[in-house]
Amino acid sequence: MEIGVLGAGSMGAGIAQVASQAGHKVVLCDLSEEQLSKAKANLGKVMLRLVEKGRLSELEANDIQRRINYSTDMGDFKNAGLVIEAIVENIKVKKDVFATLENIVNDTCVLASNTSSLSIASIAAACKQPERVMGIHFFNPAPLMPLVEIIPAVQTDENKLNKTKYLIDSWKKVTVLTKDTPGFIVNRVARPFYGEALKIYEEGVADFATIDWAMTELGGFRMGPFTLMDYIGNDINYTVTESVFKAFYYDPRYRPSFTQKRHAEAGWLGRKSGRGYFNYAEGAEKALP
Ligand code: NAI
Repeated sequence: MEIGVLGAGSMGAGIAQVASQAGHKVVLCDLSEEQLSKAKANLGKVMLRLVEKGRLSELEANDIQRRINYSTDMGDFKNAGLVIEAIVENIKVKKDVFATLENIVNDTCVLASNTSSLSIASIAAACKQPERVMGIHFFNPAPLMPLVEIIPAVQTDENKLNKTKYLIDSWKKVTVLTKDTPGFIVNRVARPFYGEALKIYEEGVADFATIDWAMTELGGFRMGPFTLMDYIGNDINYTVTESVFKAFYYDPRYRPSFTQKRHAEAGWLGRKSGRGYFNYAEGAEKALP
């Protein structure tokens, strides 16, 4: 089966790699040529590392790269059996894209969103065949994180859901079915982790580095909240918090933070922009004031 992935950012590029590693022909599509080139170059580096470590043969690495076609034209999804969308976390944009996608793909193609927080029912409602729409939520980085949340909308056909779940299981992922509620399982549990860390910083209790140090060295977490937010991207993380906050009728437990909003507005997005709560520029001191 051919797989389409829309959006070649942090998530889309990783999902394309996962699908190609599972043996599928993949079309990775983005509006931006630059993002596509970046995704292709990054995959080249990742493959080289895996070959050096002996985890892949040179032949396998070449095949994985060759199976992915890069395109700026969604028309190239016409032969896909599954399209996974991983573009900006905005309900209007996603709905428009799904309505357009439906006019491109064949009648049996399943359409999935990698959204972290938005309503799958609402995305499905933009389609003429809402029963073929579902959420398939990978975690970052998609090639390394085993968990994938599978989210049926109220409209989703059970047969299509089961077949898709089985397909993702066959990609050596661990799938969990979750209801279509804001943030699903993991992003809902994670909101207070980020939110409380940001409050601690805003109250002047401790700085970013100290909070992360306490959580990793003493708390046993693999990554501190600020390192993790920089990894996810502060733009995406802020938008997800805002979306969960609104979707839970402005429950103060999920209230977004101005610190995070200002970081997103300033373009301090984290690793992908070179600066976030920490500095990722080459040779720079990691911690920022
Ligand atoms: P990103 O900002 O890294 O990448 C988004 C990509 O979509 C960009 O390359 C952009 O050029 C492209 N794009 C935007 N509009 C488009 C359109 N109409 N057609 C084609 N391409 C378009 O975003 P990221 O982090 O990859 O997130 C994507 C989705 O995945 C979001 O819905 C997000 O909530 C979700 N997600 C993000 C995670 C993370 O840790 N960053 C984890 C799991 C899900």
